[in-house]
Order: sequence, then C-alpha cells, then structure tokens
Amino acid sequence: MAPGRRRPLLLLLWAALCVGPGLAVDRSNFKTCEQSGFCRRQRAIPPGRSPYRALLDSLQLLPDAARIQLLNEATKVPLMLELRGLRGNITRIRITELNPPRPRFEVPDVLMDEIPAEPLEVLGRDGDTLELSLGPGGPHRLLVTGSPFRMDLLRGRRLLCSVNARGLLVFEHQRQRPHSLMDIGGWVGRAWDKISALFHRDPPQDAPQDPPSENGATNEDGATGGADEKPPDNEEEPGAWEETFKTHTDSKPYGPMSVGLDFSLPGFEHVYGIPEHAESLRLRSTQGGDPYRLYNLDVFQYELHTPMALYGSVPLLWAHGPPGTLGIFWLNAAETWVDIGSNTAGKTLLGKLLDYMQGGGETPQTDVRWMSENGVLDVFLLLGPAPHDVARQYGTLTGTQALPPLFSLGYHQSRWNYRDEEDVLAVERGFDRAAVPLDVLWLDIEHAHGKRYFTWDPTHFPHPRDMLRRLADKKRKMVSIVDPHIKVDPDYRVHNELRARGFYVKTKDGSDYEGWCWPGSTAYPDFTNPEMREWWASMFAYDQYEGSTETLFTWNDMNEPSVFSGPEVTMHKDARHRGGWEHRDLHNLYGLYVQMATAEGQIRRSGGRQRPFVLSRAFFAGSQRYGAVWTGDNAAEWGHLRISIPMCLSFALAALSFCGADVGGFFQNPDTELLVRWYQAGAFQPFFRAHAHLDTVRREPWLFGEEVAGLIRHAVRRRYALLPFWYTAFYRSHRHALPVMRPLWMEFPEDTATFAMDDQYMLDRALLVHPVTEQGARGVHVYLPGKDEVWYDVDSHQQHVAPQTLYVPVTLSSVPVFQRGGTVVPRQERPRRSTECMRGDPYTLHVALSPQGTAEGDLFLDDGESFAYDTERRFLHRRFSFANGTLTASSADPQGSFPSSSWLERVVILGAPKPSSVLLRPPGGPETPLHFQLEGPTLTLRKPGVPIGADWEIVLR
Ligand SMILES: *[C@@H]1O[C@H](CO)[C@@H](O)[C@H](O)[C@H]1NC(C)=O
Ligand SMILES: *[C@@H]1O[C@H](CO)[C@@H](O)[C@H](O)[C@H]1NC(C)=O
Repeated sequence: MAPGRRRPLLLLLWAALCVGPGLAVDRSNFKTCEQSGFCRRQRAIPPGRSPYRALLDSLQLLPDAARIQLLNEATKVPLMLELRGLRGNITRIRITELNPPRPRFEVPDVLMDEIPAEPLEVLGRDGDTLELSLGPGGPHRLLVTGSPFRMDLLRGRRLLCSVNARGLLVFEHQRQRPHSLMDIGGWVGRAWDKISALFHRDPPQDAPQDPPSENGATNEDGATGGADEKPPDNEEEPGAWEETFKTHTDSKPYGPMSVGLDFSLPGFEHVYGIPEHAESLRLRSTQGGDPYRLYNLDVFQYELHTPMALYGSVPLLWAHGPPGTLGIFWLNAAETWVDIGSNTAGKTLLGKLLDYMQGGGETPQTDVRWMSENGVLDVFLLLGPAPHDVARQYGTLTGTQALPPLFSLGYHQSRWNYRDEEDVLAVERGFDRAAVPLDVLWLDIEHAHGKRYFTWDPTHFPHPRDMLRRLADKKRKMVSIVDPHIKVDPDYRVHNELRARGFYVKTKDGSDYEGWCWPGSTAYPDFTNPEMREWWASMFAYDQYEGSTETLFTWNDMNEPSVFSGPEVTMHKDARHRGGWEHRDLHNLYGLYVQMATAEGQIRRSGGRQRPFVLSRAFFAGSQRYGAVWTGDNAAEWGHLRISIPMCLSFALAALSFCGADVGGFFQNPDTELLVRWYQAGAFQPFFRAHAHLDTVRREPWLFGEEVAGLIRHAVRRRYALLPFWYTAFYRSHRHALPVMRPLWMEFPEDTATFAMDDQYMLDRALLVHPVTEQGARGVHVYLPGKDEVWYDVDSHQQHVAPQTLYVPVTLSSVPVFQRGGTVVPRQERPRRSTECMRGDPYTLHVALSPQGTAEGDLFLDDGESFAYDTERRFLHRRFSFANGTLTASSADPQGSFPSSSWLERVVILGAPKPSSVLLRPPGGPETPLHFQLEGPTLTLRKPGVPIGADWEIVLR
C-alpha cells in the first residue's frame, strides 16, 4: 500500500513530503526530465552531430562476436562496440569503455543461461561501411558505418532498424572531478547550448584503476592531472557532480556516467511496452512532454495517462506494424527515460540508405531513444518476425512466467486490514454463506507485531496456526505481507541478525542506511547480496517464521524500495550495496531480488517440493520467474478500472503474465455499479484480488444486498468455471513464453484495426474479452478481428463473422466474451468453494468450430502445487481436435503422465450442423451411441463419461 492518512506518526512527514491535496499525485515529489541531470543533459543534445566514429579497421572477429572500437572524436575517449548474433534472431549490441578507470555496473541475475551466438561473417566493405551477416545464411545483415557511426539492420532488402541514425549515442566516460567544481556557482545559469559539447571534451585519462570501493571515495581526491586545464564545459553543468532535488542532495562521487542511444524504426507507427506506466497500451509520442520514465517508485495516488514512473520497470519496448514485430530490450537497471517520436523518413533523418532500400516516399517511422543514468550500454534487438517470436525471444533471454500454484488462479480477498482472527474467520464464513468462491484471505501490515514482519500481533493474532488450520480445513489459504523495510528495534530478532551480519544497505559513509517507513525508523536488507538472500530465504522456514504453515504465502509490498523520508520516496542513490555499488546502479533491480529471495524461501521450507506464491509490487525484467505482480495503489474510479486492461497488457508484453489490479480500487469507495463491473473485469484478468485502503468502508461482496452479491457471485463463478483454461494458458506461458493475456494484434498481426485497441483483448488464443468499463453502459462496441473467422458469444452461443464491429447490448450482469471459431476451451462447471474443491471434478469441452468445421485446443493438469510436473513429468497435457465431424482426444505430450480420476461430463459444440447420430469410440471399448441435443446453434453431448486422460473419438454423422 502507499502511505495513507491515518498514521499519526507519519502525518507531519507526509504533510511535508507526500500527501497532496485531494486525490491526485503530488507531482512535485517526483523528478521531471529537466530535474534529472542526465536526462536534461542528454535531451539537450541536438541530433545529427554524432561525435562518434567506428574504427572499422579495428574489427576483430571472435568465434561468437565482432568487436569494433568506437572513438569519440571530440574527447578521443575510446569505446568498445561488441556485436553478437544470438541464435533465434536476437542481435546483441554492447558498448563499454575500452579502458574504464572503474568497472561499470553490469546487470546480473536477469539473463538466463548464455544463448549460443552464431558466428558473424564479413560480407563486404563498401568505403566507410562494413557489411556483416548475423548468423550464416540467415536473412539478417548489419551495416556498420564508420563516420559518423551508425548501424542499419536489414532483413533481406528491408531496413528494420537503424542505430545512432540521429546521432544521439551518449557515453559519458568516467572522468576526474574538476577542481573548479568548488566554484560551481559561477557557472550556474550558463546557457544549455554548450551542452552539445558535453561529450566532446576531456583528453583520455589514466585515472586510477580502483575497483568500486566500499567507502565511495574513489575519484574525489587525487585528481591532480589536468588541474591546470580550463574546466571542460560539461563540468560547468550543474548536477554533473552533485544534484539536489527538494531537500535531498545526491553526492554523485563518480560524476556523470550516463549512457544513451537512439533507434529509428522505419515502417513502424505503433510501439508498446516499457511498463510500468498508467498509460494506454500504445505508447504516445513524448515530443513536447517528458519521456517515459523507468524508476521504481511508490507513487501516492497515481494519475492516469502520464509518462511518470510507477512501482516497476521493464526496459522492453515492442514495435509492431507492416514490417513485422520487433523488440528492443535495454538491459540497464539504473534510472532510465525513454523518448518516443514519430517521424517520416526520406527527410533528414534516415538519409540515402532508407530511400534507396524502400524506394523513397513518406514511410512512417518511430524514433526511440533510451537514456540511463549509468551502467553500460547493452541492448538486445529481438527481430521477430512475428509477435509470438518476439515473446519467445524475450523468454529465452529473461525466462518465462513461473507456473503458479492452482489456488492462486482463484479469487483473493484482501483489505488493509482484517482486524483479527475472528474477523478473518467471519469473512471466510461470509463467502460460504454468500456462496462466492474464495481461495485466499490476505493480511496487510497491521497483522504483524508493530509492523515487524515475520511476527504476529499478539493481541489480534495470538493463534495464527489455528487460524491457518481452520482456513486449510475449508481448502483455503492465506497470504501475509512481508515488506523489505525492517524496523530498527533492538528487541526485534530480524533486525538484530541483519545488523549483526552486516546485511543492511549502507550509506555512502558506510553506516547502515536508515529511513522512515511504516514501522517508523527502518533499515533495508541488501537484497543484492546473495548471502543476505540466503538468510532471508531461511527466514521462511516454519520454525523461523513462527506461526506460519504450508498454506501461508507471501506478499512483498513497498519493495521499490519505498522510503518515506528518501528522495522521491525511495532510497538515496548514493547508498551502497555489496561490492561498493551505488544504489543508483541497480535501483530498478531491488524489488526483483526481494521477490526472488522470498520465493526461494517458500520453495525451501517445503524441501524444494512446492511451488511458491509471492506477489510483488516492484519488478524488473525477469520478475516473471518469481510470481505475480499487480498495478499497485489504484483508485475506485472508472478510469482506473479502464486503465487496468492496458496496464496488464503492457505487463504481459514484458512477460509478466500474472498481473492484476486491485478489484474495486484501493483508494476511495466504489459505488455498487463500479464494484460489480470491476469484479466482472477482474475475473477475466490473470491475478484476481479485491483489495482496499484502511480508510475505505468494508466491501465484502455480500454487504450491498442480494442483487449485488448475486452479480459478484456470478462473476467469480465464471472465473472458476474457466479455471482449466486459465491453468492451461499459464502452462503455455511458462513453457513457451506466450502471454496469457494478449493484445489483439498478437493474435491478428495483420489486422491494422487492432493495433491501437486496448479496451478488449485475447486470453490465450481462444477468448476475446471486452469488459464493460463505462458507467451506465447500455451496450458496448466489440471489434471481432480476423479474416475468414467466426466468433461465438459465450453466453448466447450466437455466431458472428469477422471482421466486424458488433454492438452488444449489456445489462448489469453482462461481460461480453467471445470464443474464437476453431478453438476448444476446457471448463469445470460445478460451483465449488475453492479451486482445491474442484480437483476431481469432471470437465466440459466447449468446441467452437471454424468456418471450415475444425477446432483445436488443449488441457494441462497436474497436482496444481508441486514441481513434480517438471521433475517427474507428472502431468497430463491433452489435445482435442475436431475435423471431418470427428472430435479426437489425444496426448499433446506423451512424456507426461498423471493419475486423474476426472472424466468428461459434457461436450458443447458450437457451429455444427445437426447430426443424425453421435458415436463415442472410447479407448478399447465398443462404439456406443451418445445422447445429444441441438438447441439453436448449440449441440450438447451428454455424459461421454470417458476419463480425461484417455484417447477417444466422438463422431458426428
Ligand atoms: C528468424 O527470422 C526469419 C526471417 O524473418 C524467420 O524466417 C525465422 O523463422 C526466424 N527464426 C526464429 C527462430 O524466430
Ligand atoms: C478430413 O478429410 C479429408 C478428406 O476426406 C482428409 O484429407 C483429411 O486428412 C481428413 N482430416 C482428418 C483430421 O482426418
């Protein structure tokens, strides 16, 4: 949660720092690009004057890479360009300092195992341009031009992407602190027009080869060489060596070290991704405004449609259009800004090459520019060519969605706070009484003793194990919050151990970094330290986290990290992590590590057997491997309901498939219409949890009368009926890196009408969902995409041809959902208390026929909780296909086996002509006639009764 208003201790602090008037973010708490030194410096650089030259003669071909030196002609500082063609159409571009006086931070623990690189070949050289093949015989080539340095990536004769075409490559080399800095005031206010010279000065230096040091005093003294020089222009720029924002001063001991690069994408008009922003799916041009910012922040009452940073960051951008699909993954965990511009080629920007390649003319183009405060420049171009390819390419780099335990796909009930054990059990009973399914009850910060995580409040939660047991008896689980801010309290064991082991983040002066957060004075474990993460994981053992059981799971909130007293409500950038790295180097990684260590703790407490469930607010590239994420502290407003769709879609593009938004809205009180609509929408989003602020009125589903309770019951039950479909989609996401929730264009890449749509989306490849998100809506316009396709309304079973925009009248109980012709959706239709109660339940198959009379689908099932699907191949993956009037069940993966007692209860076929008879051919048994019924467009086959794991056929005659 974000800071609220009922915390007397913090009230003063918040009045000063955080709480704006009314329900809108106080923007002045957060930096604009202009207030962020490197962003301002980089943005002031005029395009088209790149000082960089590639020394083509320095080309070195290694077995897995090509190396070329780059030279900044102005400063003469040499850089090293490294190019790799990775298997599967991924091009890696790295630029580092050739002779760095001090190592730069390179992001660890995000990339999966090294991906094999294809040998690069020189195809030729034409004057100042070198032509390389990216992998033998492949269609991709790279043209490297010497002066000014630029690169053009081609597929066949088509230009896909140009790098540094606008000349905005920035690599602020490490330098010594100028003496003249003492006199900085004298230069403040000088015109920015000198800034273009920023990277053009300074002779190469032989600065000390110090590794990063714990005390941070690397370059400040001893800077004697060049003492007589006139200070270079860039160092006149205020903010290069010290930066002040509001009351905070960032000491910046290593000076300016930012990196930046531009990419031109000819033919692309639509770009997406780079979560997290409260923004439409399609990113807007940032010309005339701030760039999109990636810097994990606890933003109190965030606004919609701004480029402001939020809780998580994934530096992956997608482009999709007629040339295909392309991804740019910018592997950098420091503060990052992304500018997006639209342009037309053939003007000054792309030059002759593009004109030649594409025959001139006004080709639409998107320009993208990345700027990061420090680190190295490490970029992966994911070359597609199709959306699914880019998703897979990103999956090979950073891993796929962890397979969630089945229960976590059910419904979660949370609020800040359930008061005590009685409250928890009363709420749980309420769900049974209201007949609303429920899997998990959540406890926010008040459950812990004085907000000391890993403990329980002795007055309100004296018997946690009994409480958990009683929930478990009803086949339900619990989640408790464990935040990474640790109360500084000599009577708190967790604090004492962390301090004694030296596991806290340090200040620049080497003492434990302390800030202010929920428990008062807090310190922050250094999650970047693997030993600290080991220790943290060990805290989840049942004898360490007293009162915990195997049905207690975890919520990591506030892990940006949120520091109420820090700059921009987070940690000081000059704080120190293990190895002497500054917080600035790795800020965006902190939250990932918290979730990683917590998930590891849950795995370990079960002896490596059980899959974890951890929800995290902060995230980075790779967080998908550790659990679920949500969109943070939203509000009970229609706009926030609407934005939950594009936000989760952009998470999904970043491989974070397990996404949801607080149902009902965190701040403020929803009216019943908004609450119902939110349940309906949330039931069709991957992570389905209601949550609310401490100051809101209670809103359990039965508190608003039977009509509202009935509507919510219906929505939640729809979710549970589709559980087998959800679980199978998650398995696909886990195995094949395909998102569960998908933008329409991922499934219909040629249908330009879908490129900017984000009020409806696909689940897996089968369902199209268009939730009602307008107040008082009487109907919605649903776009049914595709060519030669049909869609079936899942409620009326009515068939519609595509493409068309369909007006669907709605009532308060409607959620427009359409099944795509040609798919099979498995369901379990018996209403139950929780997912665990559905384990042995029979299945129903919804077979929606294509215009050709065919359909394909699958079903994955296992024990729903352990790793045995992986380690022992204990799973069933069934395939169902319909062709020539025959529905066939077969194994989609004969490697797996799992003893399931479930059977097939019903088959619903949409779009079939009336048969004269239906025959079941069970495994080994005799052919038997099957009872069937045709009602309007719906053919229902009752009680085939075959085991779900068996091979069989059903023949319509
Ligand atoms: C690589 O790209 C080529 C050309 O677009 C395509 O034909 C091929 O299928 C792609 N390979 C992979 C593994 O994505
Ligand atoms: C369906 O029938 C056609 C022609 O009779 C045949 O070519 C095709 O292989 C059949 N498909 C299946 C899946 O049996």
